[in-house]
Amino acid sequence: MKLHIAVLAGDGIGPEISVQGVRAMDAVCRKFGHEVTFTEALCGAAAIDAVGDPFPAETLEICRQADAVLFSAVGDPKFDNNPAAKVRPEQGLLAMRKQLGLFANIRPVQTFDCLVHKSPLKDELVSGADFVCIRELTGGMYFGEKKEGDDYAYDTNAYSRAEVERILRVAYDYAMRRRRHLTVVDKANVLASSRLWRRVAQEMAPQYPDVTTDYMYVDNAAMRMIQDPRFFDVMVTENTFGDILTDEGSCITGSMGLLPSASTGESTPVFEPIHGSWPQAKGQNIANPLAQILSVAMLFEYFNLAEEGRLVREAVDASLAANVRTPEIQVAGGAHYGTREVGDWIVEYINKK
Ligand code: IPM
Ligand code: MG
Repeated sequence: MKLHIAVLAGDGIGPEISVQGVRAMDAVCRKFGHEVTFTEALCGAAAIDAVGDPFPAETLEICRQADAVLFSAVGDPKFDNNPAAKVRPEQGLLAMRKQLGLFANIRPVQTFDCLVHKSPLKDELVSGADFVCIRELTGGMYFGEKKEGDDYAYDTNAYSRAEVERILRVAYDYAMRRRRHLTVVDKANVLASSRLWRRVAQEMAPQYPDVTTDYMYVDNAAMRMIQDPRFFDVMVTENTFGDILTDEGSCITGSMGLLPSASTGESTPVFEPIHGSWPQAKGQNIANPLAQILSVAMLFEYFNLAEEGRLVREAVDASLAANVRTPEIQVAGGAHYGTREVGDWIVEYINKK
């Protein structure tokens, strides 16, 4: 297969983890005889500094021409601490999602047996947890009408029936391929937009008689996720709730550095870690590259390259088992491995296979 990949490394630790994702992907493609090419493009603060736009037209074009985008992270404190900043790196990410029509963000939350103790939750509670959060990604408050005055500001949480229907379809498709249990997360006791979500879900549920559909308020879901994470199989929710719940989900896995995601929709799909740009760690070779590398596994799986995806996952599992780990998940007394060294080990594992 020929694969043309747009590489958007972005800011902070982005470029460091990006390199390791690209190397792992390249190694797997060599092994399986796929012809892969990578084209780098600017986004985030790096793009603002270079051309004054966090998602330049040229980057959009490179993404459109590609089969998939391997994205890393955007964000820079020099914008965070300046409420007057006219452009922000995050706008680049949002522009990419919107312009590529990436309405479905797939965020799997899994545990690794050898890392269960890294979760702040009790081992017996998180062990075996395995669910997918399907986050709506191009609607809701992120993109609704806004006003930002000095004394008054608002964001609008608007959803159309069509937007809700298409994300629920994705969620039901996932549920059908998994344990056939879908939890629709909303705030229908308070929000009109949530009541639309629930109504549409209730209308669609009979089309999926093999799936058990249940409905949960987001506050309750936030509690249930840490009280009984194994309850969930597939959860589907709006943009803002999904953003919040998936950070919470990373506490089940034990590190933000372990969660990949896929954003799919109308155009080129994007594969990216769920974590941010961790500017404090920039250039220190301490960021965990596994979320990025696991995004590569999701990329392969998206193109039905199951064996290739499996090899990436196997390499990641093997690195963890061999205690080849970045500091935040290293065992007490374990050797020091940085972003590069973990990447090296994984590439070598793939090459030797
Ligand atoms: C995420 C991130 C982004 C979001 C930020 C960086 C804009 O937190 O992908 O979860 O809020 O969607
Ligand atoms: Mg987030």
